[in-house]
Amino acid sequence: MNKKVIAYNRVETPVLEDLKKKYDVHFFKNIDTKKDPEFLDHLKETEGIIGLELPVDQELLDQAPNLKIISNVSVGYNNLDINEMKKRNIMATNTPGILTDTVADIVFGLVIATARRIPEMDNYVKNGQWQSEAIGPEHFGTNVHHKTLGIVGMGRIGHAIAQRAHFGFDMNILYHSRSRKPDAEERFNAGYRDLDALLQESDFVCLITPLTPQTEGLIGKREFELMKKSAIFINGSRGKTVVEEDLINALQNGEIAAAGLDVFEKEPLDPDSPLLKMKNTVTTPHIGSSTHETELKMSELAAHNLEEALSGRKPPNLVDEIVWKEN
Ligand code: GLV
Repeated sequence: MNKKVIAYNRVETPVLEDLKKKYDVHFFKNIDTKKDPEFLDHLKETEGIIGLELPVDQELLDQAPNLKIISNVSVGYNNLDINEMKKRNIMATNTPGILTDTVADIVFGLVIATARRIPEMDNYVKNGQWQSEAIGPEHFGTNVHHKTLGIVGMGRIGHAIAQRAHFGFDMNILYHSRSRKPDAEERFNAGYRDLDALLQESDFVCLITPLTPQTEGLIGKREFELMKKSAIFINGSRGKTVVEEDLINALQNGEIAAAGLDVFEKEPLDPDSPLLKMKNTVTTPHIGSSTHETELKMSELAAHNLEEALSGRKPPNLVDEIVWKEN
């Protein structure tokens, strides 16, 4: 009998079809992990879960006695209770590397779109408001090139953002990270700063750190107050790294100039959120890695991680090596 696997939104169709040939796969598009009777029934026997951002806590794990691996189709794994998984020798894997440039593209896209007000100007033209030939200062944006970009979280994606900014836009790069990154300092002439100094000196602040207990609520009222009034804030990490209410206040009170946001405290974002009523925000629906090419590669890598684990081999992208050593 084939091993049971739960696939959860999102696994790309060709990858899902291939998995179905090898395992007894049950695909769920949306799951209420606390209530969905069909899901809870399958959970009892399932050996592997593959998908995007399934919230996994102690209660779910208690109902999955045969589970060996959760293969995330994402680089982030803040949806998983890694400590509880470790206790039960359940492996966790993610999909690092392949999405780096794709996420850096959208972060940089938000930098430009926000600074040059592209979505707002697009609406202006499409709504027929472009009536006279000359547009005035009320439509002007702010330069990106030659400005100072502060990157909070200098991992792979941070490096890729710095590369675009330094080589493409002649920007001055500052960064803040848990450790110094000599390669970034050398390649991009990036200057290390403590967080407060980075916030004070940057024209653009890009947040791209993983969500951990240490980074939850990292940017709040005090941090927005430290930023320049002309600063543009970009979040490509996770919504909860920012205190969203403080971000809204900072934008409303003119403590910062604008924000480009791909992630939100609660997703999907509430249609009544004040962030959607402001002219100085650019929002996207958590699409950092969402291109056809990259989504397919992520699904393929996640499936490979799953298959390796279910075949008793070490998956290449274990987020915690300890689980493997204990197995
Ligand atoms: C996207 O947000 C990811 O973590 O891959």
